[in-house]
Amino acid sequence: MTKVSPSLLAANFANLSKDIDMINRSEADWLHLDVMDGVFVPNISFGFPVLEAVAKICKKPLDVHLMIVDPDKFIPQIQALGAYMMNVHYEACPHLHRTIQQIHDAGMKAGVTLNPHTPVSVLEEIIQDLDMVLLMTVNPGFGGQKFIDNSIQKVRRLRQLIQQTNSHALIEVDGGVNGNTAPRLVEAGVDVLVAGSYVFSAENPEERIKELKKLKGLKN
Ligand code: DX5
Ligand code: ZN
Repeated sequence: MTKVSPSLLAANFANLSKDIDMINRSEADWLHLDVMDGVFVPNISFGFPVLEAVAKICKKPLDVHLMIVDPDKFIPQIQALGAYMMNVHYEACPHLHRTIQQIHDAGMKAGVTLNPHTPVSVLEEIIQDLDMVLLMTVNPGFGGQKFIDNSIQKVRRLRQLIQQTNSHALIEVDGGVNGNTAPRLVEAGVDVLVAGSYVFSAENPEERIKELKKLKGLKN
């Protein structure tokens, strides 16, 4: 079954507990948390006080996406949240191998995120150490943007690299996931769909999560 990780960025920030209750009740696999610093990306979302409050009431594993410079600095704080997955950007980590080791030493799964212009080939030497690759299918920083169509080919290239190297890494995609793009992404080999506006703008978000989970592709 396809995994779904709804992005809290599209939730109602004036009433987060209501939206997290919905996530807890739903079939969502994880909760996707987008941290932005206004430096790596041209926007600021939320930081540790909010993450801590969310972690206390969320029953789903936390899938933390750090759109920040120097994410290594925050490994202990992300670990303290009880996060399941820590995603760092390839473009923000000059010593990526060390960063991945430190995330694993902290007892978390390690994901590497690629911006739309970054080719999957940069991961050739590290793919076997990764638990997940997160492909940005929009430019990071904002919810509700238009899906970049070349991403479908990129998913296929990543699936090929994973197969060739016998890596266990999952493929996650983030940005512009909706009723039109999700089936194409899953068909191309995606394991985990992040969805922000598509889930939270729905009249029945729980039903929408259920529909995304039903999509069948290469691996299921
Ligand atoms: C964008 C974030 C996404 C965002 C996706 O930088 O990483 O997780 O919430 O939003 P949608 O699904 O609305 O494109
Ligand atoms: Zn994200």
